[in-house]
Amino acid sequence: MDVNDNACSQEKNIACHREQARSHKKAHPAQLNNNMWRPIIMANLKIKNLQKGFEGFSIIKGIDLEVNDKEFVVFVGPSGCGKSTLLRLIAGLEEVSGGTIELDGRDITEVSPAKRDLAMVFQTYALYPHMSVRKNMSFALDLAGVAKAEVEKKVGEAARILELGPMLERKPKQLSGGQRQRVAIGRAIVRNPKIFLFDEPLSNLDAALRVQMRLELLRLHKELQATMIYVTHDQVEAMTMADKVVVLNGGKIEQVGSPLDLYHQPANLFVAGFLGTPKMGFLKGKVTRVNGQSCEVLLDAGTRITLPLTGTNLSVGGAVTLGIRPEHLQLAQPGDCTLQVTADVSERLGSDTFCHVLTSSGEALTMRVRGDLASRYGETLSLHLDAEHCHLFDADGVALTRPLRAAA
Ligand SMILES: Nc1ncnc2c1ncn2[C@@H]1O[C@H](COP(=O)(O)OP(=O)(O)O)[C@@H](O)[C@H]1O
Ligand SMILES: [Mg+2]
Repeated sequence: MDVNDNACSQEKNIACHREQARSHKKAHPAQLNNNMWRPIIMANLKIKNLQKGFEGFSIIKGIDLEVNDKEFVVFVGPSGCGKSTLLRLIAGLEEVSGGTIELDGRDITEVSPAKRDLAMVFQTYALYPHMSVRKNMSFALDLAGVAKAEVEKKVGEAARILELGPMLERKPKQLSGGQRQRVAIGRAIVRNPKIFLFDEPLSNLDAALRVQMRLELLRLHKELQATMIYVTHDQVEAMTMADKVVVLNGGKIEQVGSPLDLYHQPANLFVAGFLGTPKMGFLKGKVTRVNGQSCEVLLDAGTRITLPLTGTNLSVGGAVTLGIRPEHLQLAQPGDCTLQVTADVSERLGSDTFCHVLTSSGEALTMRVRGDLASRYGETLSLHLDAEHCHLFDADGVALTRPLRAAA
C-alpha cells in the first residue's frame, strides 16, 4: 500500500469511525464484572455462507464461522486473501453479496454499522488530528449525549488500562506510533462494544514495539474479558495471540482451530506451509506399498520411508508430498532412516542454528538445531527422517490422517 493509499484509507477509516461512533448507547443493562466499570456483555457471532463480490469478482467465497463469547479469534492469511473484507462485512462497512451474520441470535446482516455494537481499530489509527487524546477517546460518548461524569470515568479507566494518563491533553502528532495505536484502542474500549475488531493494528509499528503491543493486547483481552477478532498476515501473531485461528486463502477458510492443533495437525499443504518459522519442508514422492496401518513412500530425493497411517485411500503409484518441520530434522545416527543432502547456507543465531540444505532432487529443507552447528557450505550431510514426525499429503494437498502423535 503506498502513501496515497494510506492517506485515502485514513480518511475512509475516520468516516467509518464516525459512523460507528453514532451508535454509542448509554449503557448496557447488565451487571458489572470484576472490572466494576465494564458491564458483562455476551457476544456470540455466527456467520453462514457469507459471500462478497467486487465488480463481478468473487472475493469472499462462502464463509461459515462461529466466534464464541470472550474468544480471541485471529484471521490470518496472505495479503489479498480477503481478511479485511471479511472483517468489514462483520462491521457492516461493506454490504454482503450473500449469506448471513448473526450476533447473539439476532440477524445483523442488514443492520447499519452504527447499530451493531462492534468497534473497529484500524491499522492507520484514524485519529482526529485536531483533537486531544482525551477528546479522541470521548468523542463517541459526547456525541451520544452520555453524562459528563460517566464519560470522564470511562476515558479515565481506558487511559489507566492503556497507560495513557499523562498524555490525555496531547494531540496525536505529539505521540509515538505505539501511543497513537493505544489511543485508537482506547476509543474502542470506551464504547464498550460487544466485539472488538482489529485490522492489522500493529503493522505500522517497528518490530520491537510490535512484540510489546502484542503482549499488551493479550493482557487487555484478559483484563476486559472481551470478545476480539484480530486480522493479521503475520502467522507469528496468529500463533501467539489466538484462542482460535482462522486460516484464510483466496476468500475461503482453509482451517479453523487452536494454534497448536493447526501446527501439529495441518489439514492441508497450505496451512502446513503457512504456519511455522522456519517453514515446514516438503519432499515429493510416490507410494510404493500400502496396507491398513502404514504406507511406504519412495521420495524423489532417494529415501524410502514407511509412515504410520490409518484409513487412507492411497494406492500404489499415487503422488504424495511428505512434510517435515525444521525442529524434527537432525543429523543421522547409525540405524536411522537417512536422507542425503547438501548443506546450503546456515543462520547461526546463538541459541539455534537454521541449517538450510538441498536434496539431490533439488528440494530445499531447513533443519533447526539447538545451539550452534558449524556446517560447511556444499558439504554432504546425512539427516534423520523421523517417520513419527512426518506429515503426508495426497496429490490434492490434503493431509492424510495418521495415528495421533504426541506434541513435540
Ligand atoms: N472496495 C473494493 N473494491 C474492489 N476490490 C476490492 C475492494 N476491497 C477489496 N478488494 C479486493 O478484494 C481482495 C481482498 O482484499 P482485502 O480483504 O483487503 O485483503 P487482505 O485484507 O486479506 O489483504 C483484494 O483483491 C482487493 O483488491
Ligand atoms: Mg487487509
